[in-house]
Amino acid sequence: MSVTVRVPAKVNVQLAVGAARPDGFHDLANVFLAVGLYDEVTVTPADELRVTCAGPDAGQVPLDRTNLAARAALALAERYGRDADVHLHIAKDIPVAGGMAGGSADGAGALLACDALWGTGASREELLALCAELGSDVPFSLVGGAALGTGRGERLTELEVGGAFHWVFAMAARGLSTPAVFREFDRLARGREIPVPVASQDLLGALAKGDADALAAAVSNDLQPAALSLFPELADTLAAGRAAGALASLVSGSGPTTAFLARDAEGAEAIAGALRASGTCRTVRTAAGPVPGAALV
Ligand code: C5P
Repeated sequence: MSVTVRVPAKVNVQLAVGAARPDGFHDLANVFLAVGLYDEVTVTPADELRVTCAGPDAGQVPLDRTNLAARAALALAERYGRDADVHLHIAKDIPVAGGMAGGSADGAGALLACDALWGTGASREELLALCAELGSDVPFSLVGGAALGTGRGERLTELEVGGAFHWVFAMAARGLSTPAVFREFDRLARGREIPVPVASQDLLGALAKGDADALAAAVSNDLQPAALSLFPELADTLAAGRAAGALASLVSGSGPTTAFLARDAEGAEAIAGALRASGTCRTVRTAAGPVPGAALV
């Protein structure tokens, strides 16, 4: 008997970052959009906890207990007083260390899959609380759709979206560590007054209307200068997407994946072709959003 859960990637259409808090985290106004690029987590009873991973980036995925999927299984097992005696297999399609919540997706997927396998009867609220303990982006991976994340990003308000948005994602040759990007944000912010992060009303309105032009005018990512500072070549990828007619070009989350908003599916394919030809990135994918969060398949 095994259970498989499919979990989407995310792009942050707004990532407003406040000053570092005493606990080292940053308060955020983080507008997440789940997009149709997926990891699948399959959980099967086993003698002891084991993690395997398949996919183009599988070699970069830790298979020990630092893996968020393993941590999710251990957290749920501890909560329900049982052993985490499962084999977790991750079919990985979301880029690793890419700023698209791939690790968070695996955490949410393993939590939901183990919950179904073990029949814990946990409420949605309990699962969301466990997700928040695993990482700031993990609750959104469970919920999907579109949401505003406040606090360190884990406190979610679901958002209405009036249509599909078409994206192109350019994966970079190497990853970026999220803590390193936040540290660089702090370094670049030194001596500056950092405003309290708030969601843009123009952006929320654009999402509600499903208006790609209005969304393009409103997207922003306060981590982008820090990601570019650590990974200057990303500027070439962003420029190639802009030249190809993207409505908006931005770094996804802490990067280094770059995201390009297109008017429609055909526009996305044209931008994807130009980015592939540009030689400024490793791989290029198209995906639309919003899509639902973690779900049993
Ligand atoms: O919550 P998560 O484990 O995904 O965070 C990874 C790291 O990213 C944190 O240790 C912290 O350095 C940084 N971070 C932050 N502020 C946030 C979210 C993450 O500084 N709101």
